[in-house]
Amino acid sequence: MPQPWTIKHKPTSLKEVVGNREAVQKLVEWVRSWDKDVPKHRAAFIYGPPGIGKTVTVEALAKDFNMELIEKNASDYRTEEAVRRIAGLASQYRSLFSAKRIILFDELDGLTGSADKGGVKAMVEVIQNARCPIVLIANNAYDPRFSILRNYCLLIEFKKPTISEVMRHLKNICLKEGIHTDENALKFIAQRSEGDIRSAVTDLQAVAEGKKNITYEDVSWLGFRDRQEVIFNVLRMIFYSKTCSGAKHAASMAEVDPDMLLEWIYENIPSHFQDPHELARALDAVAKADVYRGRIKRTQDWSFTRYMLDLMTAGVAMSRVSSKPSGWVPFHFPTRISALSKSKEERVMQMEIGRKIRRKCHISAARAAKEVLPYLRIIFKNNAKMAAGIAKWLDLTPEMIYYIAEDEAKTEEIKRLIGI
Ligand SMILES: Nc1ncnc2c1ncn2[C@@H]1O[C@H](COP(=O)(O)OP(=O)(O)O)[C@@H](O)[C@H]1O
Ligand SMILES: [Mg+2]
Repeated sequence: MPQPWTIKHKPTSLKEVVGNREAVQKLVEWVRSWDKDVPKHRAAFIYGPPGIGKTVTVEALAKDFNMELIEKNASDYRTEEAVRRIAGLASQYRSLFSAKRIILFDELDGLTGSADKGGVKAMVEVIQNARCPIVLIANNAYDPRFSILRNYCLLIEFKKPTISEVMRHLKNICLKEGIHTDENALKFIAQRSEGDIRSAVTDLQAVAEGKKNITYEDVSWLGFRDRQEVIFNVLRMIFYSKTCSGAKHAASMAEVDPDMLLEWIYENIPSHFQDPHELARALDAVAKADVYRGRIKRTQDWSFTRYMLDLMTAGVAMSRVSSKPSGWVPFHFPTRISALSKSKEERVMQMEIGRKIRRKCHISAARAAKEVLPYLRIIFKNNAKMAAGIAKWLDLTPEMIYYIAEDEAKTEEIKRLIGI
């Protein structure tokens, strides 16, 4: 399991934290003021949306200032008693031999209900008597639960970083990882994250897996992944709904058109209906839906759509009589569609190579793709030197060489011989 990049590339000093310059400055000045005397506010309350660097700022600050950071999460200070246990630590800024100390109560939003009221009360007392800086962090400082607490704190708002700030952070990571990226690809990830740097970094790592070069096409599947999660839920609701209306309602949430939804349902029925009689009934319902689909195509009479939809949703759901979901069953992308899109990509590539051949051999690109390409493939697989000569003559791109050779090592060898 590779290390998450949010950890690997976590800022270790304040200058690496992107965005929120003013807020960070406010925090730094407040911590500095402790060197003179105990300041008016003994606690700072940092608040703002998740994933923008609230925690990491406090950690980096402690490192920059060489302070001992005592970090606690909601689970550590759930009760009054637990808070009081931490109180002792707050009674000293520095002792003769130790570093200056800073105490962080992180993720205050995690405190729930009345059971924690005592915890908040105890926290107020700890702050009132603190001899060292205390930092609180929550998403929303204006939650009524924190109203008393707020009076004792210097409030510091953290805002979402801008798209270009997120991009800068992503660029730095790519630099360190030795990955080339398209400006547009980074922009796509940054925009999608809506200022949540944590999720932007996680997305970047997911698309960069095993790649040294990231293009816009590589990142566009992130959008698809979101839609895929939606469709999985829709399928689950259709396959396991106990009512017709539940199954029908699910279809209205799918973000794909009815034809595509039918493909998804058809593809996944066999793995979700184990009982052969139920399976037969479910497939029968889908087959009938498909008949209506054909009728709609032919007649352009869209009023048939409701029969198609009812059959493929309610019809499928009602096929289940007694069987229960059998553990966790993954969903599959419709193979028919992926085969189609794969062969489309292939056709595009073949035509591009065909065009290169046309330029030199004066035959049509389609004919070149059909008649010349198979021979090139044999050459590229068996004779790298000859392949290199041909690739150079035809001015093939590395992607084309890879497509013809169908092998990474061979491609590298040919590229080396050409000197690209
Ligand atoms: N402003 C930022 N600058 C650099 N990295 C960040 C920033 N914000 C978040 N990150 C990355 O995301 C991770 C989570 O950030 P964190 O500080 O825990 O967010 P928050 O506490 O605001 O929810 C960090 O470890 C870091 O890798
Ligand atoms: Mg945090």
